[in-house]
Amino acid sequence: MKRLISFLLLLFLSACTIAVVETPSVNLSNSTPTAVPENQVTLRSLADRKDFGIGAAVALGPLRRDRTYSQVLAGEFNQIMPENAMKFQALQPERDRFNFKGADDIVDFANEHNMKMFGHTLVWQRGLADWLKAGDWTREELIEILRNHIQTVVSRYRGRIYAWDVVNEALDTDSSLRELIWSRGIGPEYIELSYRWAHEADPNAKLFYNEYDPGGWGAQSGQKVDALYRLVADLKERNVPLDGVGLQMHLRLDDAPTYEGLKQSLERLAELDLQIQITETDVRMGYQGEPSPEQLQQQASIYKDLIQACLDVPKCTGFWFWGFTDRYTWVSSFMGQSGAPLIFDQYYRPKPAYDAIAQAIQAATR
Ligand code: XIL
Repeated sequence: MKRLISFLLLLFLSACTIAVVETPSVNLSNSTPTAVPENQVTLRSLADRKDFGIGAAVALGPLRRDRTYSQVLAGEFNQIMPENAMKFQALQPERDRFNFKGADDIVDFANEHNMKMFGHTLVWQRGLADWLKAGDWTREELIEILRNHIQTVVSRYRGRIYAWDVVNEALDTDSSLRELIWSRGIGPEYIELSYRWAHEADPNAKLFYNEYDPGGWGAQSGQKVDALYRLVADLKERNVPLDGVGLQMHLRLDDAPTYEGLKQSLERLAELDLQIQITETDVRMGYQGEPSPEQLQQQASIYKDLIQACLDVPKCTGFWFWGFTDRYTWVSSFMGQSGAPLIFDQYYRPKPAYDAIAQAIQAATR
């Protein structure tokens, strides 16, 4: 009964807000998969008109098995990146034996549906293959392993991948350069080298740096924003081929940056003449049973502030969700709670957050 009431309430809230942004994107009353009709208003159609990127991370399992998943994905987003299928371990599970099957499926999907494909991610402290972690490598060997990995992968997808997250999360929680296999074995120059190798392999791909945990951005002015600024400014100064910065937004209801704070940070980064994207957004709620209507509204208003800050800074060219349906989110498996962090519920019904995002894009004057 409680479920039914919250469902009806959710439908009502969705209907109220969606009315402002023309028609809803997904058929709410029908659980059988239907393609999103071409003339229907979706986040994608709204974003296309503004030349704005609206993206989602893609999980391979659902893409292969769940038709509703792929239909909603193709209808609602104009750019995608793999959640895990392009991490080191997935691509090179054994030394020099690459497995591109999963990554190929996602790249093919993007091409088929005329979406921009982003590669995620070439250099990271996690997602590493066991053989790599277990080895006792010399500096020269590690350089060769990293160069070979980057250049094999980037050249395979040359011309089909719009942008790469080359280095991901090089900064630690305390803003120092993270200690990881690459920094320990090669030195801090592993970052610069990675961009140069990627650029050699595909000179037209846009190369991004992606950083996690933006807590303390802007008005709250934490160290991390300064460290990030210094890191990318230094790369730019030394003519390292870097085109963009991604700011991850894995958030809770109580730790989201404010609109003003985030906008200031984006403006500051924009001074470096880089494009910026808000990446990996999910906003998890703590609740027992079902989220309350208030929590859903709070979640919606956080999403709205985040995308609004991006839309209001011309150099901010895109906004990403880490998944899109509560049916499949790393929050459940990785953080051991449901959290319902995304814009569609587990039955693919748009949540208030969906409508907030749609309204913001529609109203944007860019
Ligand atoms: C996460 C995936 O969502 C999980 O499925 C996986 O087990 C671990 O990695 N920052 C990133 C992403 O850059 O690649 C991470 O993705 C989440 C945090």
